[in-house]
Amino acid sequence: MKILAIESSCDETAAAVVEDGRRVLSNVIASQVESHIIYGGVVPEIASRMHAEAISGVVRAALEDAKTDISDIEAIGVTYAPGLIGALLVGTNFAKGLAYSAGKPLIPTHHLRSHIAANYITLPGLEPPFLCLVVSGGHSHIVAVNDYTDFTVIGKTRDDAAGECMDKSARAMGLDYPGGKNLDIISRSGNPNAYKFPHPRIDGSKYDFSFSGLKTAVVNTIHNAKQKGEEINVPDLGASCIETVTDILTSKTIEAAKEFGFDKVALAGGVSANSRLREKMTALCKENDFRLFMPDLSLCGDNAAMVGAQAFYEYKSGHIAGLDLNSYATMPIDNIEY
Ligand code: KG4
Ligand code: ZN
Repeated sequence: MKILAIESSCDETAAAVVEDGRRVLSNVIASQVESHIIYGGVVPEIASRMHAEAISGVVRAALEDAKTDISDIEAIGVTYAPGLIGALLVGTNFAKGLAYSAGKPLIPTHHLRSHIAANYITLPGLEPPFLCLVVSGGHSHIVAVNDYTDFTVIGKTRDDAAGECMDKSARAMGLDYPGGKNLDIISRSGNPNAYKFPHPRIDGSKYDFSFSGLKTAVVNTIHNAKQKGEEINVPDLGASCIETVTDILTSKTIEAAKEFGFDKVALAGGVSANSRLREKMTALCKENDFRLFMPDLSLCGDNAAMVGAQAFYEYKSGHIAGLDLNSYATMPIDNIEY
């Protein structure tokens, strides 16, 4: 079954053709990064306009690259939530128009579920159940993937996402947007123990996260140094910040896997591209005899191939939308009403 998938939740306009949830026939991404760099982050209004300009060309390119045309496509999957609302609406409305004109079913696809599904493309043998650490610019979740469309959230951030914390810390260090990736690169030569940041204490669920305190601590470290006329060693500060974030993420994920009896652990989302996170998870999973699954680096960030993968399983579960499908800036990954 060939699915045409569309993604426009943030700053990438993307379309892909995916067969049976696992075989990527095309994967086209038009990145807006260059247009947002001067602002130091994504400007939602610019993002929406650029999606509107790019989307028909991107979809056409995805069909051409897959050597197919719309008549050969069986369904259209689209990211309808969560994300920037104006950006989501461009993809959702385009998908609705195409589904109507071509007479194809429309599959509403949750962005974080799609990030998890990137693993199905990279690792054809992976099947639920497994535990997944989903870390992106807007979300940090530990999720039990009970089945392809059945999820239980075990922990999530109370405030900032891990990606947001790294992006804002990178910005304070004078690094260009997208901060997380640049922080990763520059920190590889730094000393992760140069600066000590405490792990936050969180009441309630021991699997919840909180990253806003760390972000503030990094910013304060920079301000204090400036006031004293001291130089900040950016690789050291970056490495220390990443060390703290990844210590928190990995320790809670491993503990949750033990408590809930998972022997398969996966990573997902833009932050899963982080080299230290991948390195630490690899070591910890080996130590604990867990099998670790990580998406290929090309599939960690936003793309439509992962949407095509998840949309296949949503379709098999009967999750089809009408032409009244809306977009939503927020939407839980579990308990979605269809
Ligand atoms: O999943 P994603 O592409 O978009 C959202 O759904 O938010 O994630 C973007 C996030 C950003 O915060 C970005 O800085 C972060 O992923 N990111 C990284 C790396 N590559 C992307 N963070 C740390 N290390 C990286 N190598
Ligand atoms: Zn994403």
